Amino acid sequence: MAIETMPLSGSIGAEVKGVDLVQLGDAGFSGIHRALLDHAVLCFRDQELTPDQQLAFAKRWGDIHLHPYLDGLPDCPEIIEIVKEAGERNRFGDHWHTDQIFTPLPAMATMLYAKEVPAAGGDTMFASLTHAYDALSDGMKELACRLRTYNLYDKQAPRSRQMAAKIPDQDKPAAPAIHPLVRVHPETGRRGLYLNEMQTTRRFDGMTEEESRPLIEYLLRHATRPEFTCRIRWEVGTLAIWDNRCLMHLALDDYPDHRRVMHRITLKGDATIGVDQTDIAA
Ligand code: SIN
Repeated sequence: MAIETMPLSGSIGAEVKGVDLVQLGDAGFSGIHRALLDHAVLCFRDQELTPDQQLAFAKRWGDIHLHPYLDGLPDCPEIIEIVKEAGERNRFGDHWHTDQIFTPLPAMATMLYAKEVPAAGGDTMFASLTHAYDALSDGMKELACRLRTYNLYDKQAPRSRQMAAKIPDQDKPAAPAIHPLVRVHPETGRRGLYLNEMQTTRRFDGMTEEESRPLIEYLLRHATRPEFTCRIRWEVGTLAIWDNRCLMHLALDDYPDHRRVMHRITLKGDATIGVDQTDIAA
């Protein structure tokens, strides 16, 4: 079923019009699935969802990915409540990242539902890793296709008081995960860069941090060029879903005097697939 979309920028993102996610039929859902592959991030305005209804919509996409280090809501553990109080810094997701790259099977998609937002500020920005890969030179593409990243969750990173309290075993070390730097999207077949800022993507596998830093920093600068991005301005009742297999995102920390509360669900993903080494120049 064709659904009505309004692009959020010239490269990625779309707002979906006229959909009530609670009433959505199978044809409507498959139109939304197609739109997510086309636009990488979608938002829906004016949704009225209880935690159970948000979870029911999430389950239409597949199994839920439970965060390995962060606790969910006591009566709905699949939902992580992201809270920043007035007067605090928002330290949750305030750097470019793709969700759960620090696990062997990173989250396929993330769904975020706005419960309480400032009148202005607190937007989320998105950057297309597919457009970023496509715009590299052939030489850099070849090099990138041969590299793998070493990723580790930083349990000690500064967080708002409520978010820090959701990490039960702060002192227990996190386990690293290795992924290809160029990931082949399992549904579209398109290649994209796949990395986070260095608080998670610490280095390339088999290299030191010092050796890795110049190239990681270059690729992050390149991937977040304004023409590869879009942003969502939240309203209470906005739900967004984004494809972590081809995007990074960043939560803007520009609303010091306001509270913001979001309900987040992540969806289970597959093992990451790199470019077949015999096929790199394709
Ligand atoms: C996240 O990084 O998943 C949270 C994004 C946000 O709060 O805008």
